[in-house]
Amino acid sequence: MLTLIAQLAIDTADLAAAFLFLYGLHRMSSPVTAPSGIFVAGIGMAVAVLASFLYAFGVGAAARPHLLENVGLAVIALGIGGGVAWWGGRKVAMTAMPQMVAIYNGMGGGAAGAIAAVVLVGDKAQGNAELVMTLVGALIGAVSMSGSLIAWAKLEGVIKQPVRVKGQQVVNGLVMLLTVAVGACIVVASVDEAARTLMMSTAVYIFFGCALAVGILMTLPIGGADMPVVISIFNAFTGLAVGIEGYVLQNPALMIAGMVVGAAGMLLTLLMAKAMNRSVSNVIFTNFGDGAKHRQGKIKGELKPEQPGDAGIDMRYAASVIIVPGYGLAVSQGQGKLFEFVKLLQAGGVSVKFAIHPVAGRMPGQMDVLLAEAGVPYDMIFQLEDINDEFASTDVALVIGANDVVNPVARTDRFSALYGMPILNADMAKKVLVIKRGEGKGYAGIVNGLFYADNCSMVYGDAQGVLIRMIEAVRGLGLPAVA
Ligand code: TAP
Repeated sequence: MLTLIAQLAIDTADLAAAFLFLYGLHRMSSPVTAPSGIFVAGIGMAVAVLASFLYAFGVGAAARPHLLENVGLAVIALGIGGGVAWWGGRKVAMTAMPQMVAIYNGMGGGAAGAIAAVVLVGDKAQGNAELVMTLVGALIGAVSMSGSLIAWAKLEGVIKQPVRVKGQQVVNGLVMLLTVAVGACIVVASVDEAARTLMMSTAVYIFFGCALAVGILMTLPIGGADMPVVISIFNAFTGLAVGIEGYVLQNPALMIAGMVVGAAGMLLTLLMAKAMNRSVSNVIFTNFGDGAKHRQGKIKGELKPEQPGDAGIDMRYAASVIIVPGYGLAVSQGQGKLFEFVKLLQAGGVSVKFAIHPVAGRMPGQMDVLLAEAGVPYDMIFQLEDINDEFASTDVALVIGANDVVNPVARTDRFSALYGMPILNADMAKKVLVIKRGEGKGYAGIVNGLFYADNCSMVYGDAQGVLIRMIEAVRGLGLPAVA
């Protein structure tokens, strides 16, 4: 039995950790306070992990001889996990963040599944209600783990094509039914001592095998392009599974953290789906970009190249510029040079604003983080609904490595995969300058009519390289800064 003092310390630490998670999450709602929010939540996690060592004071007589060995193993696991996460977090490229989130999310689901496995195989559930809760948590955690690993493999390019076969959804449904049936057998067998000894651990292994298969089968047919939304769904699943297993263990920190992550993941999924004008079921059951196979109407106009230096000078003489950053800016890591260029324009009296589309890039908030990294002040950054009306009265819209989020086809072609997605009204500016490397399509695989419009010029090249040449050209003017 745990000593009273150890139990009190664990309860206090768990509540403190839960408070720190919530407070940290609250601070993550604004880019200004987000870094400190992440730090606060990290402290909460450290408190919860350290408190879990206090359980060592309450181990039963049978486990006592293994106490030192088990504590040692936990410390080694913490060292390896913490070390790999520290190294990975520092090394990962901004564009590889979705993969990293997928891996960590899968581990969270796996951890919830592992807790359930210990409870089930060790026959530790107290009564049927707890057993059912453990099984539900195990199912959700295992699905999230295997599904997230497939999502990682797709984003990393290890699995290159969506795997689709005829009747796949029927097969998926049957495997899901089988998993639930095995779970039901476990509950029924648990009431009879003889049946429990005979089949419990075998049934638990089959249950986990089926649950892992559900996650794999569910994710294989989904296109790599939809993975960020899928990861967000699995993120909600992981939170839910952790919350449920927290209930089984009667651990308030796990319960609160799990439910918060589950709710946040679900809200994020809905927001992403809404910003892409798609339903969550559409993401799971159909393939984004299939619409690109429909024949686009003939696009009028031609692509008009402009030299980076000329484009930079155009903007130096403009009164107002709105910048639309997209995925290509993250790829080129041109954010630092972009802000250097912006400061030159501002010194020349040009009004400069940034317009952010909610799904620009490949993960929520990617553009905000990118600009924050470069030191762009938050009062220069505007979300779609706050700035869209300003394009019509703006001299230049500078589109950098963005494509789908400014594709006017979203307004006009109801057969297009983008139809209905709100876009930034860059096409309405007096002049549009687009920085991209060539004629590559955007994520939806659709040609962008904006690039052919009369008011649009293409500035070809890697975003960072182009920005360097723009800076040189504007500096070369040697104009005095306008007060
Ligand atoms: P995209 O439509 O993907 O277009 C990016 C463009 O950047 C490409 O056309 C590419 O053209 C250009 N590019 C790539 N590397 C470049 C480089 N080094 N320098 C300059 N240009 C470069 O990007 P977007 O407009 O940001 O739209 C995001 C898309 O992703 C949307 O369709 C959205 O629905 C989807 N999506 C977003 C999310 C989230 S949450 N953000 C999640 C899932 C899906 P070139 O090859 O010719 O250079």
